[in-house]
Amino acid sequence: MKLEIVDNITSLEDAMVLLVDESLELPSELPADLSSELMSYMKGLKDKASYKGKIGEINYGTIKVKNDYLNIAILGLGNNDTFSTIKLQNGLADIFRSLKTKCSKSILIMARLITQYMDSSRKRTVLMSESLIMADYEFSEYKSDFEAKQVEHIYLLGDFEKGALEEGVILGESNKIARHLINLPANKLTPLHLAELVKSYGNINGFEVILKNKSEIEALEMNAFLEVAKGSSQPPVLIIMKYTGNPGSDHRLGYVGKGLTYDSGGLSIKPTSGMVTMKDDMGGAAAVIGAMIAISKLNLKVNVTAVIAACENMISGASYKPGDIISSMAKKSIFIGNTDAEGRLTLVDAVHYIVEKEDVSAVIDVATLTGAAIHCLGHDATCAISNNDDYYEVVSKSFAKANEHVWRLPIFDEYKALLKHHEADLTNTAGSPGTITAGLFIGEFVQDKPWVHLDIAGTAFTDKQVGIYTKGGTGVAVRPLYYVAKKFAAK
Ligand code: BES
Ligand code: MN
Ligand code: ZN
Repeated sequence: MKLEIVDNITSLEDAMVLLVDESLELPSELPADLSSELMSYMKGLKDKASYKGKIGEINYGTIKVKNDYLNIAILGLGNNDTFSTIKLQNGLADIFRSLKTKCSKSILIMARLITQYMDSSRKRTVLMSESLIMADYEFSEYKSDFEAKQVEHIYLLGDFEKGALEEGVILGESNKIARHLINLPANKLTPLHLAELVKSYGNINGFEVILKNKSEIEALEMNAFLEVAKGSSQPPVLIIMKYTGNPGSDHRLGYVGKGLTYDSGGLSIKPTSGMVTMKDDMGGAAAVIGAMIAISKLNLKVNVTAVIAACENMISGASYKPGDIISSMAKKSIFIGNTDAEGRLTLVDAVHYIVEKEDVSAVIDVATLTGAAIHCLGHDATCAISNNDDYYEVVSKSFAKANEHVWRLPIFDEYKALLKHHEADLTNTAGSPGTITAGLFIGEFVQDKPWVHLDIAGTAFTDKQVGIYTKGGTGVAVRPLYYVAKKFAAK
């Protein structure tokens, strides 16, 4: 699909999208024949008072211009008080999907009005382009009767910035790669296959990828990671991605993603209902991979290292057991209260590795870590924990830039005390509040680094199609992590 910014209408496309607000006024720049048809269409809507131009409100219809019937969609921007970028994104995505179903191959979007509601031309260009790209995602690989429909060309008419179009397109595409990785089932996306895919993304986009196999992980003494992996017949892989966009600087961001390509719960086995979505337990890994792709494709002048401890949490005679006391790369002993609290075990070794061996200046970890995160904030907001106000501020602003929600949970000394165990240094089941104690467990391994923990268990995948999101992986945190890197990038 090709997106193009245009200054005027030179041809009529298969479908037209018109942005209006509650004034329901038409843009003045339309060619006469189109303008008169649209005018009478809009008059019809006004007379029936059936359409008000409220934010996100959509009207579909057809108009006849020069003996041609065109699909049209009208999208409301509301007014200055009600305008919302998230509702605009979702409205655009819904329209895109509907027109795609109607087999429109080329779409003209008359969007000059958006300038009145978003004054940064970069922001409005990125918003429009990334929304359309993300709306154009379907997970169809395993559908043998899938009928591919394709929108070939989108023309954006309005005050947009050519340079920002590329950024929007790449952000949208990177988000979709993350969604795709999440949607691949665990029998296809094994730790090894994930590692091979990352290797190819590195080759294409210009970041270095180092893979460490089981014996190399053993040599590193990443014992907590190995304990989780040991019940599976699929070997674990440590995936390290390095991007050096600012070689003169010794500042380096560290991203860590939870990479459980499957989580059965282990001996503390999940019920089937909890297991069917557990191919998604590498949503954190998908987020950091997507971010690395965007960062490197857009050549940010910044240094970032990302680490994924990829494995499966399975059951066999070799599985780790509730009641075990295990070791970790940081040499802290951990009591296993529940083998389903496996993510934090893989993450602490990955975090210790990135701090000790990769010399990062700060750490962000992203993980589908706790079901409790869904109880905290539901499916529309990511839970965060941080040891550093300034760094959290950067992360929180980055989420806002990406139109994603994040909310910081508190750290109290009483919560930290729950991590202690009478036989070991720490317990992996510190109890309620589950999202906070899981986050604090990881915090025990970040040493003095500024750190933000993101629990995306509620946001990494969805069972509903809403706006830019389709059922399945959402690619949440890809764009926020890109904006964090951009914030630290030299100009
Ligand atoms: N991967 C799950 C968390 C999860 C649950 C993600 C639902 C997405 C949707 C994680 O490994 C897990 O099982 N956590 C347990 C921890 C508990 C045993 C302390 C949980 O949340 O129940
Ligand atoms: Mn689990
Ligand atoms: Zn898990």
